[in-house]
Amino acid sequence: MSGDYQLVQLANGEKTLFSAGYGEKLHPGLGPQAEADLLYVRQLQIRDRLASGVGEFVIWDIGLGAAANALAALRATRDIPGQLRLVSFDNTAEPLEFARQNSAALCYLDGYEEQIASLLRDRRVVFQNGKLAVIWEFHLGDFPALLPNLKFKTQNSKLPPAPHAIFYDAFSPAKNPAMWTLPVFENLFRALDPARPCALTTYSRSTLLRASLLLAGFYVGVGHATGMKEETTVAANTPALLAEPLNARWLERALRSDSAEPLREPVYRREKLSATALEKLRAHPQFNHIRPETAGI
Ligand SMILES: C[S@@+](CC[C@H](N)C(=O)[O-])C[C@H]1O[C@@H](n2cnc3c(N)ncnc32)[C@H](O)[C@@H]1O
Repeated sequence: MSGDYQLVQLANGEKTLFSAGYGEKLHPGLGPQAEADLLYVRQLQIRDRLASGVGEFVIWDIGLGAAANALAALRATRDIPGQLRLVSFDNTAEPLEFARQNSAALCYLDGYEEQIASLLRDRRVVFQNGKLAVIWEFHLGDFPALLPNLKFKTQNSKLPPAPHAIFYDAFSPAKNPAMWTLPVFENLFRALDPARPCALTTYSRSTLLRASLLLAGFYVGVGHATGMKEETTVAANTPALLAEPLNARWLERALRSDSAEPLREPVYRREKLSATALEKLRAHPQFNHIRPETAGI
């Protein structure tokens, strides 16, 4: 909706965007630059993975918003000789347009103004980011609706390649439930290439989110603390990419939680884990070596 975004100042003096429509700030903890770098870029070890890989490294930036996460990734990788494909998704260009108009206050867009202008105009920009060759695409549309078309395809497909890393940054499940349903995470998991290790990070640590990711097929682990969050979440299609996988104690707590059942449709509600979901979680390879009595089941 037009006129939805405003500039606000955080307690640490950093400026960020506030969406009146969702009633939420973007990067409310540390501000756009520090939070994007810590939670998304460092947490997924983008530099190391990009530097050690061969060929194009692909990041899906889900919830492009005002591009703080995307620009943090670009800034962190300028000195790495290689190729990066940054595939951004959002159903509106408004926060990025707003950030561009307020770039002097936000600072983090410095040096990338031309690329952002091209991305907004053409939905795609190809450029040299220091030593790194970059293709940055913007897929404008409702992500849950686009997702079933993004299933892993052959190299020749015009669709974006499957990701090595995913920044998952929608508004909160309570305010933006359409982005946090089990069918969305199931479709996201199906869009991955099973032969391409991929890790996702998001700011939420909610049981509902973690249960949804597990039931969709991901392995799920604890993510670093950032700003106001004492924990975040990392998920991957291989346990090798998780430093701290959720364990039997998490499963015990999920059983007691009054908000653990995944959302099946885009309506937020809090429910205890159903018997069906519980059975599936117990059978997940991440937990199925745990004896029922240890997990309190
Ligand atoms: C928290 S903001 C993202 C902040 C952004 N990552 C950044 O670094 O500035 C959430 C974004 O999710 C987008 N979003 C919400 N619902 C969506 C949907 N159904 N499809 C695609 N994007 C959506 C919003 O428009 C918003 O830009």
